[in-house]
Amino acid sequence: MTPIKKCILKKDISYKPIWLMRQAGRYLPEFRKIRKKNKNFVKLCLNNKLVPEITLQPIKRFDFDAAIIFSDILMVPYGLGQKLNFTKGLGPQLGDFNDKSSLIIKKSNFINKLKPVYESIKKTSNNKILEKKDLIGFVGAPWTLLVYMINRISPKKNLKKNFFKDKNLNNNILSILKEYLKIHIKYQVRNGATVIQIFDSWAGLLSEKDLEKYVYQPTKEIVDFTKSLDVPVICFPRNIKNFKKFVEKVNPDVISIDYNIEPKKIVKDIHIPVQGGIDPRALLVDKQSLKNEVKKYKEVFKDHPYIFNLGHGVLPQTDPNMVEYLIKFVKDN
Ligand code: CP3
Repeated sequence: MTPIKKCILKKDISYKPIWLMRQAGRYLPEFRKIRKKNKNFVKLCLNNKLVPEITLQPIKRFDFDAAIIFSDILMVPYGLGQKLNFTKGLGPQLGDFNDKSSLIIKKSNFINKLKPVYESIKKTSNNKILEKKDLIGFVGAPWTLLVYMINRISPKKNLKKNFFKDKNLNNNILSILKEYLKIHIKYQVRNGATVIQIFDSWAGLLSEKDLEKYVYQPTKEIVDFTKSLDVPVICFPRNIKNFKKFVEKVNPDVISIDYNIEPKKIVKDIHIPVQGGIDPRALLVDKQSLKNEVKKYKEVFKDHPYIFNLGHGVLPQTDPNMVEYLIKFVKDN
């Protein structure tokens, strides 16, 4: 059994696996070299030669316990026919819904558009280097994708003023998302993804009264579907105020925490495996500070099934030597 599955399914606490969100990315010179020659990010995500290579770059360099497929949560809106561009400095930009017929999608069109993603997963999972490691597939949670599809740019701190104005449009997109996220998960699993992570990056934008409709209910539906495929599912509801309630409502196999929450509180409140939490900025300082930060998590989770990870993605300005040091420190002591 792979280390992540052992931790998740057997609740084995004797070994704490490690992987990092955005472990393949701009902090690696070998990624920047490919990126420089491939200016169109969406096209890069659809390149079934380069995606396996990029996915495995951090696995070749470091002793990680899992790979995560190099792709993006916004490939689902792209598959649904929404225009998608990544402009340097601006983040993602999506097209509008002037024409509502654009919301009528054919399943076969969606699968065809995202076929290269599935081919990349298959190729990557067949690589010998992953024999004893997991390959993590992922999706954005329905709420976070709704945010991007309606807001059309990253919301940073606030949603556009009229975000909730067109209730019909929101409900319509939400149900389309639920249906197509299941398809996207099914095809990732069928092609070799052994764990699924659900990223809800904007869960923290909602007030308590809206969580049931936009976060708990739709996410639970996706979680239950993934479990029905016999694949463990990790949820990352970033900046949500009440992780305990999220776990009770959604019941994932693992809860991934951000760096704003006190790990001591989590270990007291939550009885399922936990992942992450370490501040990505800890990798930007010096080795001693990083060691102190990691020690804190080691101590708090010593008797709890725990997967080492950050509280958000690796920052582009991170020195790869610090990642190396982090892994060594996690594994040596
Ligand atoms: O974790 C991994 O290594 C797997 C690959 C992955 C990417 N994006 C690659 C990527 C994953 C899991 C994601 C998830 C994702 N994408 C999220 C959820 C996690 C989070 O960050 O909250 C979100 C919100 C997105 C949407 C997205 N994609 C944004 C806002 C941006 C622009 C910000 C930026 O860093 O430039 C992206 C682009 C993106 N996705 C990059 C990478 C490596 C950077 C592209 C580049 O090289 O310029």
